[in-house]
Amino acid sequence: MDQWFGMDAVPDPRRACAELLAFYLEAGVEDALDETPHNRFADAPAAADAAPAARPIAAAPDAIRSPRSDPRPEGAPRGAPPPAAPAAAAEDARAQAASARSMYELRALMEAFEGCELKRTAYRLCFGDGNPEARLMFVGEGPGAEEDRQGKPFVGRSGQLLDRMLAAIGLDRTKAYIANVVPWRPPGNRTPTPAEIAICKPFIQRQIELVNPDVLVCVGLPSAQTLLGVREGILKTRGRWMTYRVGEREIRAMATLHPAYLLRQPSQKKYAWRDFKAIRAALR
Ligand code: URA
Repeated sequence: MDQWFGMDAVPDPRRACAELLAFYLEAGVEDALDETPHNRFADAPAAADAAPAARPIAAAPDAIRSPRSDPRPEGAPRGAPPPAAPAAAAEDARAQAASARSMYELRALMEAFEGCELKRTAYRLCFGDGNPEARLMFVGEGPGAEEDRQGKPFVGRSGQLLDRMLAAIGLDRTKAYIANVVPWRPPGNRTPTPAEIAICKPFIQRQIELVNPDVLVCVGLPSAQTLLGVREGILKTRGRWMTYRVGEREIRAMATLHPAYLLRQPSQKKYAWRDFKAIRAALR
């Protein structure tokens, strides 16, 4: 019996814990959020005008997180509501974004903004990258794990592909500005909810206004739905010139395929190449 119940059979708690975490990671569980499921899609504000989106991005293992892992405010009882009702948070975001007179101010306001639950599970704000005076601006859906770690959009695998696509038309991040619809990583790379998109939308709109590009490229369908109001799928929408209005100004805008999709479907790269050639021509 000793050989079954002897020292070897007593599990080392640290080792057991590490093995359990490894098991979770292998099973795709990356974020510890809550003990009970929560339907965040039911939180959509009445005025939410953003559409739900498909989530294409593969995640890098991220394991157990910062003390912000629990989405409730510190000390709040279990099942407590989020800090601000989504409609109020969206209104607050609108007022704050409108008050920002520079990218610097906008960033500071977003750093301090507490109205979006995504902030509670993300490591940091992923504000933007590249040249804020560029004539070309890209907007993706939201940060992935690597973007969350570095605080910069499109720095993971799909970002590296985006860099290669830019290089193919003779550009790099010194000649483009890159941001996302939601600036905090949705946990586990889930789709941002309509409420989260509605709350964050004023910030990306103000960012576009401040960059004031000649050409705006929505990377992937969620971005095109949010900023260009497209209703059809990305394969129908991509490559078409549309208009993004900022006050009186009309900015040429286009939706293109998301690099994460292209990594999974390399045969579709030919369409993205067409889009990028059209973007290059528009900038000339
Ligand atoms: N996908 C996005 O939409 N944005 C990023 O920053 C990274 C991946």
